Amino acid sequence: MRIVSLPESWRGRALVISAVDRAESWFSEEELAVARSFRLPKRQTQWMLSRIAEKELRRQGAAGDCVSFSHSGPYGGAAVGSQPVGLDVEAMRDFREAAAHFFLTDDENEVMERCTIPNRLLHFWCAKEALWKQHGGVIPTLKRIPLRLQSEIAGGLRFEGVDTFAGEVVAALTRPTS
Ligand SMILES: CC(C)(COP(=O)(O)OP(=O)(O)OC[C@H]1O[C@@H](n2cnc3c(N)ncnc32)[C@H](O)[C@@H]1OP(=O)(O)O)[C@@H](O)C(=O)NCCC(=O)NCCS
Repeated sequence: MRIVSLPESWRGRALVISAVDRAESWFSEEELAVARSFRLPKRQTQWMLSRIAEKELRRQGAAGDCVSFSHSGPYGGAAVGSQPVGLDVEAMRDFREAAAHFFLTDDENEVMERCTIPNRLLHFWCAKEALWKQHGGVIPTLKRIPLRLQSEIAGGLRFEGVDTFAGEVVAALTRPTS
């Protein structure tokens, strides 16, 4: 298994992995039946990768009943917490800024355009996706999720309630609410 480097402050809260050998060996027959219920092999792999990320995270000591999953390309991730949590992972890709108006308000777009970080729109996208998941998907569109930038930090952005990070992937993790 390859473990993707994430910020130190995320340790014990989120894990992103890829390239797991013998993925099936992590699961019980009952769990494998869930994985196999997906028609597409790609979807089966995504399910297994993200659930292995959760298992490994808990094996490392993470605790809590709340969990969030994400997959992108060859990556799968999980975040665990005692309160609602949201994780989003995006494989590096070109994200045309012309798409920004689909999910950012005009004010958020102005803030985004002042950021100097590479792949800035991907950070904003991930942050909204993570917050959306933390809210359990009850907010109908990403545009309705307010995103307030607090600062640019090493390798990422710090928003109210959610941090982003860029390394091998761009990822966003919500901050504990208390
Ligand atoms: C659900 C959504 C996040 C999936 O997008 P994706 O690119 O496949 O995202 P990820 O791989 O990062 O995340 C998928 C995971 O999100 C989680 N998820 C799905 N629905 C969720 C919900 N309502 N609340 C919290 N998490 C949810 C699931 O765990 C899923 O993984 P799983 O199927 O293996 O369990 C996507 O629908 C979305 O972007 N919603 C945003 C809201 C929005 O704009 N809706 C309008 C649609 S027209």
